[in-house]
Amino acid sequence: PKRIVVLISGSGSNLQAILDQTLDGQIRGNVAAVISNRPDAYGLTRAEQAGVDARLLDHKQFADRESFDAALVELIDSYQPDLVVLAGFMRILTPELVRHYHGRLFNIHPSLLPKYKGLHTHQRALEAGDEEHGCTVHFVTEELDGGPLVIQARTNIVPGEDIQNLQQRVHQLEHKIYPLAVQWFCNDRLKLGESGVQLDHECLPESGYQ
Ligand code: GAR
Repeated sequence: PKRIVVLISGSGSNLQAILDQTLDGQIRGNVAAVISNRPDAYGLTRAEQAGVDARLLDHKQFADRESFDAALVELIDSYQPDLVVLAGFMRILTPELVRHYHGRLFNIHPSLLPKYKGLHTHQRALEAGDEEHGCTVHFVTEELDGGPLVIQARTNIVPGEDIQNLQQRVHQLEHKIYPLAVQWFCNDRLKLGESGVQLDHECLPESGYQ
Protein backbone atom coordinates (compact mmCIF):
# COMPACT_ATOMS: atom_id res chain seq x y z
CA PRO A 1 0.00 0.00 0.00
CA LYS A 2 1.03 3.56 -0.72
CA ARG A 3 1.89 6.03 2.01
CA ILE A 4 -0.05 9.28 1.96
CA VAL A 5 0.55 12.51 3.87
CA VAL A 6 -2.31 15.03 3.92
CA LEU A 7 -1.81 18.77 4.51
CA ILE A 8 -4.71 20.83 5.87
CA SER A 9 -5.52 24.24 7.32
CA GLY A 10 -9.16 23.83 8.29
CA SER A 11 -12.15 21.57 8.60
CA GLY A 12 -10.66 18.66 6.70
CA SER A 13 -13.83 17.33 5.11
CA ASN A 14 -11.81 16.28 2.04
CA LEU A 15 -9.33 14.63 4.40
CA GLN A 16 -12.27 12.75 5.92
CA ALA A 17 -13.46 11.53 2.53
CA ILE A 18 -9.97 10.19 1.82
CA LEU A 19 -9.55 8.67 5.30
CA ASP A 20 -12.89 6.87 4.94
CA GLN A 21 -11.76 5.24 1.69
CA THR A 22 -8.40 4.17 3.11
CA LEU A 23 -10.18 2.60 6.08
CA ASP A 24 -12.72 0.70 3.99
CA GLY A 25 -10.08 -0.42 1.47
CA GLN A 26 -11.25 1.49 -1.61
CA ILE A 27 -7.95 3.36 -1.57
CA ARG A 28 -4.97 1.01 -1.58
CA GLY A 29 -2.98 3.17 0.79
CA ASN A 30 -2.73 4.57 4.28
CA VAL A 31 -2.70 8.11 5.56
CA ALA A 32 0.57 8.12 7.48
CA ALA A 33 0.17 11.64 8.84
CA VAL A 34 -1.99 14.74 8.73
CA ILE A 35 -0.13 18.04 9.04
CA SER A 36 -1.80 21.38 9.76
CA ASN A 37 -0.27 24.85 9.72
CA ARG A 38 -3.07 26.05 12.01
CA PRO A 39 -3.55 24.90 15.60
CA ASP A 40 -7.35 25.19 15.44
CA ALA A 41 -7.85 23.05 12.33
CA TYR A 42 -10.64 20.55 12.98
CA GLY A 43 -8.97 18.15 10.57
CA LEU A 44 -6.38 17.41 13.29
CA THR A 45 -9.20 15.99 15.42
CA ARG A 46 -10.42 13.93 12.48
CA ALA A 47 -6.91 12.47 12.14
CA GLU A 48 -6.73 11.60 15.84
CA GLN A 49 -10.13 9.95 15.68
CA ALA A 50 -8.92 7.81 12.79
CA GLY A 51 -5.78 6.83 14.70
CA VAL A 52 -3.52 8.79 12.35
CA ASP A 53 -0.54 10.94 13.41
CA ALA A 54 -1.81 14.53 13.73
CA ARG A 55 1.00 17.06 13.51
CA LEU A 56 0.97 20.81 13.90
CA LEU A 57 3.56 22.96 12.15
CA ASP A 58 2.52 26.54 12.90
CA HIS A 59 3.77 28.88 10.18
CA LYS A 60 3.64 31.77 12.69
CA GLN A 61 6.59 30.20 14.49
CA PHE A 62 8.81 30.74 11.43
CA ALA A 63 10.54 33.89 10.25
CA ASP A 64 9.73 33.46 6.57
CA ARG A 65 8.16 31.20 3.98
CA GLU A 66 11.46 29.53 3.09
CA SER A 67 12.21 28.39 6.62
CA PHE A 68 8.63 27.18 7.16
CA ASP A 69 8.64 25.19 3.93
CA ALA A 70 12.05 23.70 4.71
CA ALA A 71 10.73 22.46 8.06
CA LEU A 72 7.57 21.23 6.35
CA VAL A 73 9.56 19.17 3.83
CA GLU A 74 11.56 17.66 6.68
CA LEU A 75 8.40 16.72 8.58
CA ILE A 76 6.64 15.32 5.50
CA ASP A 77 9.70 13.33 4.47
CA SER A 78 10.00 11.76 7.92
CA TYR A 79 6.88 9.78 6.84
CA GLN A 80 8.40 8.75 3.49
CA PRO A 81 5.21 9.40 1.51
CA ASP A 82 4.46 8.20 -2.01
CA LEU A 83 1.80 10.89 -2.31
CA VAL A 84 1.30 14.27 -0.65
CA VAL A 85 -2.27 15.58 -0.71
CA LEU A 86 -3.16 19.25 -0.21
CA ALA A 87 -6.69 19.30 1.21
CA GLY A 88 -7.60 22.90 1.98
CA PHE A 89 -3.98 23.78 2.80
CA MET A 90 -4.16 27.55 2.50
CA ARG A 91 -0.50 28.36 1.98
CA ILE A 92 1.46 29.31 -1.10
CA LEU A 93 4.30 26.83 -1.51
CA THR A 94 7.90 27.64 -2.38
CA PRO A 95 9.23 26.42 -5.73
CA GLU A 96 11.71 24.27 -3.79
CA LEU A 97 8.94 22.38 -2.04
CA VAL A 98 6.90 21.97 -5.22
CA ARG A 99 9.91 20.64 -7.15
CA HIS A 100 10.79 18.26 -4.33
CA TYR A 101 7.38 16.54 -4.66
CA HIS A 102 7.12 16.70 -8.44
CA GLY A 103 4.68 14.07 -9.68
CA ARG A 104 3.48 13.14 -6.20
CA LEU A 105 1.74 16.31 -5.02
CA PHE A 106 -2.03 16.75 -5.48
CA ASN A 107 -4.24 19.76 -4.85
CA ILE A 108 -7.99 20.28 -5.00
CA HIS A 109 -9.30 23.65 -6.08
CA PRO A 110 -12.92 24.83 -5.92
CA SER A 111 -13.33 25.93 -9.53
CA LEU A 112 -13.23 24.57 -13.05
CA LEU A 113 -9.57 25.38 -13.65
CA PRO A 114 -8.11 27.16 -15.54
CA LYS A 115 -11.00 29.43 -14.53
CA TYR A 116 -10.78 31.22 -11.17
CA LYS A 117 -7.35 30.48 -9.83
CA GLY A 118 -6.85 31.86 -6.32
CA LEU A 119 -9.53 32.76 -3.77
CA HIS A 120 -13.29 33.53 -3.69
CA THR A 121 -14.00 31.19 -6.57
CA HIS A 122 -17.71 30.67 -5.86
CA GLN A 123 -18.39 34.37 -5.61
CA ARG A 124 -16.50 35.03 -8.82
CA ALA A 125 -18.40 32.33 -10.72
CA LEU A 126 -21.73 33.76 -9.52
CA GLU A 127 -20.78 37.36 -10.28
CA ALA A 128 -19.66 36.40 -13.77
CA GLY A 129 -23.08 34.88 -14.40
CA ASP A 130 -21.55 31.50 -15.25
CA GLU A 131 -23.90 28.67 -16.08
CA GLU A 132 -21.67 26.04 -14.50
CA HIS A 133 -19.08 25.69 -11.81
CA GLY A 134 -17.20 22.89 -10.11
CA CYS A 135 -13.90 21.67 -8.75
CA THR A 136 -10.60 20.29 -9.99
CA VAL A 137 -7.93 17.89 -8.74
CA HIS A 138 -4.54 18.65 -10.26
CA PHE A 139 -0.86 17.91 -9.87
CA VAL A 140 0.90 20.84 -8.26
CA THR A 141 3.56 22.67 -10.24
CA GLU A 142 5.24 26.00 -9.68
CA GLU A 143 2.41 27.94 -11.31
CA LEU A 144 -0.25 28.63 -8.65
CA ASP A 145 -3.35 26.50 -9.37
CA GLY A 146 -1.83 25.87 -12.79
CA GLY A 147 -0.63 22.25 -12.76
CA PRO A 148 -1.85 19.42 -15.01
CA LEU A 149 -5.51 18.49 -14.43
CA VAL A 150 -6.40 15.03 -13.12
CA ILE A 151 -10.20 15.18 -12.80
CA GLN A 152 -12.97 17.75 -12.68
CA ALA A 153 -16.55 17.64 -11.48
CA ARG A 154 -19.05 20.16 -12.79
CA THR A 155 -22.52 21.30 -11.81
CA ASN A 156 -25.03 23.74 -13.25
CA ILE A 157 -25.44 26.93 -11.28
CA VAL A 158 -29.04 27.21 -10.09
CA PRO A 159 -30.46 30.63 -10.99
CA GLY A 160 -30.63 32.76 -7.83
CA GLU A 161 -28.60 30.47 -5.58
CA ASP A 162 -26.27 32.10 -3.06
CA ILE A 163 -22.57 31.57 -2.39
CA GLN A 164 -23.13 29.24 0.57
CA ASN A 165 -25.43 26.98 -1.38
CA LEU A 166 -23.07 26.76 -4.34
CA GLN A 167 -20.05 26.22 -2.09
CA GLN A 168 -21.82 23.39 -0.29
CA ARG A 169 -22.77 21.68 -3.54
CA VAL A 170 -19.24 21.97 -4.92
CA HIS A 171 -17.84 20.68 -1.64
CA GLN A 172 -19.89 17.52 -2.05
CA LEU A 173 -18.43 17.03 -5.51
CA GLU A 174 -14.94 17.48 -4.07
CA HIS A 175 -15.61 14.60 -1.69
CA LYS A 176 -16.31 12.37 -4.70
CA ILE A 177 -13.44 13.27 -7.01
CA TYR A 178 -10.59 13.67 -4.51
CA PRO A 179 -10.73 10.11 -3.14
CA LEU A 180 -11.13 8.86 -6.71
CA ALA A 181 -7.94 10.61 -7.85
CA VAL A 182 -6.11 9.19 -4.82
CA GLN A 183 -7.46 5.71 -5.65
CA TRP A 184 -6.10 5.94 -9.18
CA PHE A 185 -2.70 7.14 -8.02
CA CYS A 186 -2.44 4.44 -5.36
CA ASN A 187 -3.43 1.76 -7.89
CA ASP A 188 -0.70 2.96 -10.26
CA ARG A 189 -3.32 3.94 -12.83
CA LEU A 190 -2.35 7.60 -12.82
CA LYS A 191 0.99 9.34 -13.04
CA LEU A 192 2.58 12.53 -14.22
CA GLY A 193 4.71 11.71 -17.26
CA GLU A 194 7.00 13.79 -19.46
CA SER A 195 4.10 14.99 -21.58
CA GLY A 196 1.49 15.38 -18.87
CA VAL A 197 -1.02 13.31 -16.97
CA GLN A 198 -1.13 9.63 -17.88
CA LEU A 199 -4.39 8.00 -16.86
CA ASP A 200 -5.31 4.37 -17.38
CA HIS A 201 -8.06 4.37 -20.02
CA GLU A 202 -10.22 2.16 -17.81
CA CYS A 203 -10.48 4.96 -15.27
CA LEU A 204 -12.47 7.27 -17.50
CA PRO A 205 -15.81 5.51 -17.99
CA GLU A 206 -15.76 4.39 -14.35
CA SER A 207 -15.31 7.94 -13.14
CA GLY A 208 -18.30 9.56 -14.78
CA TYR A 209 -17.15 12.96 -13.56
CA GLN A 210 -14.99 14.14 -16.44
C1 GAR B 1 -12.08 23.01 -0.19
O1 GAR B 1 -13.24 23.56 -0.74
C2 GAR B 1 -10.91 23.16 -1.12
O2 GAR B 1 -11.27 23.05 -2.47
C3 GAR B 1 -10.44 24.54 -0.79
O3 GAR B 1 -10.55 24.63 0.60
C4 GAR B 1 -11.64 23.81 1.03
C5 GAR B 1 -11.20 22.94 2.18
O4 GAR B 1 -12.28 22.25 2.75
N1 GAR B 1 -9.09 24.76 -1.24
C6 GAR B 1 -8.65 25.91 -1.73
O5 GAR B 1 -9.35 26.90 -1.81
C7 GAR B 1 -7.21 25.91 -2.16
N2 GAR B 1 -6.86 27.16 -2.77
P1 GAR B 1 -12.03 21.05 3.75
O6 GAR B 1 -11.06 21.52 4.82
O7 GAR B 1 -13.38 20.78 4.35
O8 GAR B 1 -11.51 19.88 2.98
